[in-house]
Amino acid sequence: MTGASGTVGRHLVPRLTAAAVRVRALTRDPERAKEQAGELVRGDLRDPESVAAAARGATAAFLVWPFPTVDGAEETVAALAGQVGRVVYLSSAAVRDVPGAGPQSPGRPDGEIEAMLVRSRVRHTVLRPYGFAANALRWAAEIRAEGVVRDYGGAAGLNPVDERDIAEVAARVLTGDGHDGARYVLTGPEALTRAEQVRIIGEAAGRPTRWEEIPRGAARERMLADGWPASIADGALDFLHARIGDPEPVTDTVRRVTGRRPRGFRDWAAEHAARFR
Ligand SMILES: NC(=O)c1ccc[n+]([C@@H]2O[C@H](COP(=O)([O-])OP(=O)(O)OC[C@H]3O[C@@H](n4cnc5c(N)ncnc54)[C@H](OP(=O)(O)O)[C@@H]3O)[C@@H](O)[C@H]2O)c1
Repeated sequence: MTGASGTVGRHLVPRLTAAAVRVRALTRDPERAKEQAGELVRGDLRDPESVAAAARGATAAFLVWPFPTVDGAEETVAALAGQVGRVVYLSSAAVRDVPGAGPQSPGRPDGEIEAMLVRSRVRHTVLRPYGFAANALRWAAEIRAEGVVRDYGGAAGLNPVDERDIAEVAARVLTGDGHDGARYVLTGPEALTRAEQVRIIGEAAGRPTRWEEIPRGAARERMLADGWPASIADGALDFLHARIGDPEPVTDTVRRVTGRRPRGFRDWAAEHAARFR
């Protein structure tokens, strides 16, 4: 496993060990990750030799590529593909399949990594989640301090997917058959505007919480001041603008793969309420 300590991976490790799968996790810092179940191996995703050494003898690998560019990815994908029979890659719903051109995600590495997996000829399955429910934790400090989130795009309709559902799907794919070549687009059960998400968090936390819309230009200035590259900030703002009046879709993939309804944002907010108080 790569990304075992991450937002999705930390829910995947216990699911795999519960299914009697032996897990070996690559981490940059085994000391920091030592509470985690399974065997820990020091390594770096950008050091393909360490990736190959960690994967030696494994039957399958869970791959994350948590970087903004593909620099070094081809070597790492090749190193993994040379060791394991199967790869499950945590991609994103930003990837589109373009006839004749393959998976594409302009400005993001996910599409190119998917293409590398195809070229490597390793058996693989791709998970393409929409935004994680856990992204709402970015609002926690503002909500705790003032009970308000000031941002652009409150009317943008997003469909947050619970990271535990992504882990559940990954566990099913890693431990079951019939998933080779699948591209699983994962969503929650319903689209909600960002302002609705903030209201739901307030209800769960037991305190009034509201959205305060700010102009796009002000949001952009703040992002640049926070160190976002202009192209990424503009891409994120364009994305939100496009979702106003055209919310993200709902897929039935979580239910098809796990047999269960996807967890809703209200459940997620209730379980994480303490983080917003
Ligand atoms: N957030 C979203 O809404 C969203 C939506 C769709 C797709 N995604 C995709 O999800 C992926 C991130 O997954 P996540 O959120 O579960 O992870 P995360 O919480 O961002 O954690 C990053 C993980 O990557 C590992 N890592 C970071 N740099 C590393 C390096 N140089 N070498 C080895 N390991 C390294 C970390 O392990 P150690 O610290 O233990 O080394 C950690 O486990 C990204 O590719 C992102 O595009 C995110």
